[in-house]
Amino acid sequence: MALNVALLKDSFERAKRENGGITSLGMSFYKRLFEKYPSVKPLFSKPPEVQHKMLMSALATIVAQADQSDKLLPYLHALGIRHLLYKTENAHYSAVAENLLAVLREHLSKEGEWTDAMQDSWTAAIALIVKVMMEASNNPAAFTEELANHGYGPDGLLIQKCGVSTNGRPEVS
Ligand code: HEM
Repeated sequence: MALNVALLKDSFERAKRENGGITSLGMSFYKRLFEKYPSVKPLFSKPPEVQHKMLMSALATIVAQADQSDKLLPYLHALGIRHLLYKTENAHYSAVAENLLAVLREHLSKEGEWTDAMQDSWTAAIALIVKVMMEASNNPAAFTEELANHGYGPDGLLIQKCGVSTNGRPEVS
């Protein structure tokens, strides 16, 4: 189904303003994830205080590019392939997807309404994100050329101008 990009953008803007803003949303994500799915916790080396900024920044990029598949797809392919470095498995994606939808719903229900249309839009968006990331992580070699064309190495890390993969992550707007 086509994404309701306007609704995604509008509700993400609300998420930034409401209920303690993006920090509260991001921290809730990790709190709930580790409570409900404790088996994934050992995969994370960085504390939630650091991790949530990267996740929320990625979400902001995804929402901003939701109607620009020429940018969004390579970004998500690289992100999916980088997750191989973090030992992420296919089975983990349903937990993260369930968790992300649940915290968005809870966050946006505090000061305003979480509508059926928002539920449908975010469900579809998260399913798409997960599908595209998993497609790439299940067959990284098929994406090497696309990644190179967008400045990423075969491991999904950004190539710096000196030609070396960065240990850090891509800059996100
Ligand atoms: C909705 C799908 C997901 C998104 C948007 C997402 C986003 C991110 C982002 C932006 C980072 C920062 C590093 C980077 O950019 O490479 C990251 C790191 C990480 N993600 Fe994900 N992720 C997703 C799914 C998952 C899943 C399913 C797992 C498995 C439990 C996972 C586990 C991790 C781990 C372990 C790290 C590294 C953390 C660390 O170094 O402490 N992610 N993720």
